[in-house]
Amino acid sequence: MLSKKIESAINKQIELEAASSQLYLAMASWAENQSFNGVAAFLYRQSDEERMHQIKLVKFVNERGGKALIPAIKQPEKEFKSLQVVFEQVLKHEIFVSAEINKMVDICLQEKDYTTHNFLQWYVSEQIEEEALARNVLDKLKLIGTDKGGIYFFDRDLGTMAATATNSNTKESGGK
Ligand code: FEO
Repeated sequence: MLSKKIESAINKQIELEAASSQLYLAMASWAENQSFNGVAAFLYRQSDEERMHQIKLVKFVNERGGKALIPAIKQPEKEFKSLQVVFEQVLKHEIFVSAEINKMVDICLQEKDYTTHNFLQWYVSEQIEEEALARNVLDKLKLIGTDKGGIYFFDRDLGTMAATATNSNTKESGGK
C-alpha cells in the first residue's frame, strides 16, 4: 500500500511525464513542418517513450492500492528558434526530470517504502541514458553550427537512430 505522500509524489511525476510527452510532440511537429524529418522521427519517438514512462507510473500506483490521476496538460510552445534551441531545451528538461525523480527516491527512503524505491531505480537508470543522449545530440549540433551539409547529415542520422531504436524495441517486445 502506498502512503499518501508517495502517492501524491508519483501523481506529480505522472503529470511531468505527460507534459514531457506533449513537449516532445510539439517539437516533433515543429521539426516536421521545417522538413527536418529525421529529427521529427527522433522526437516523435521520444514523445512515445515519455508516454510509456507515464503509463508505467499510472499502473504502478493503481497496482499498489493508490489512485492514479490523469492530469490536464498545458499547451506546450509551438515555435522554436532553431534545432539547437530545441535540443538545449530537451537537455534542460531531462535534467529537471532527473532531479524530480531523485526527490521521489528520497521520499521513498524517508517513508521506508523499499518497494517503490526499487521500482524507481528503472527511472533513475533511464534518466542517465536520456540525459546522455540529449547531451550527445546537442554536442553534435554545436559542432555543426550553421553548416547546411552538416545539418542534412545530422537530420538523416537522427532518423536512422529513431528507426534503429524502434526496430530493437519491437524485437524486444516480440514484435508487438
Ligand atoms: Fe521520462 Fe525523459 O523523462
